Amino acid sequence: MKKNISLLMVMAGIVLLSGCKDKETEQAVAKATAQSAKLVKAHDTKISDATKQTATQLAKDTTQVAKKAVESVKTHAVHTIAEAKKTIQEVVVAQAPGDRGKVLYQKCAGCHGEQGEKQALGKSALLAGQSASDLANKLIAYKEGKRNVAGMGNLMKTQLASMQKSDILALAEYISTFQTKKGNTK
Ligand code: HEC
Repeated sequence: MKKNISLLMVMAGIVLLSGCKDKETEQAVAKATAQSAKLVKAHDTKISDATKQTATQLAKDTTQVAKKAVESVKTHAVHTIAEAKKTIQEVVVAQAPGDRGKVLYQKCAGCHGEQGEKQALGKSALLAGQSASDLANKLIAYKEGKRNVAGMGNLMKTQLASMQKSDILALAEYISTFQTKKGNTK
């Protein structure tokens, strides 16, 4: 490419030097000069395009790597925060038996009522108004398969299967705070 351009320049120079001053020659020289200028430009553009492309690709790659790094740091942080939250929750729950009973009671409320005001499945006695020790004894008896008042002892045994004694005591403590409503027989 460069050789061509130089050749054109030289040719243009020769034409000029040869002293031909007529219009046609002038036009030919002008054309040749313009052509060589174009070629030089095209050549430069090609080089700068290639450079640009490489630079763009590099920038893209760098961004990608940076993004990945940020992502991994984020994921790690979220995970650590989640772990910390869980630990805090566990500590809080362990230190507040009232709350622990409340949390555990959520799965009982569907049958027995939020405040122990329902006869579960139309069969059980009301939980509201019972003492913590009575409740604890009944629950332990269900867990051990030793209580069955309305033929549903096994259902209650299943409910308590995964619970520790400390869970049952916390539950009994919490349930014993339910007030007997007017009209309840218990
Ligand atoms: C699917 C409904 C259901 C769920 C859920 C349930 N229970 Fe029961 N519960 C019953 C039934 C039915 C009985 C009666 C069982 C029997 O035949 O002795 C009962 C009996 C009881 C009794 C004895 C009441 C009494 O004075 O005789 C207590 C206490 C009790 N449940 C507490 C709980 C606790 C605490 C939970 C949650 C861990 C729970 N129940 C979950 C249905 C349920």
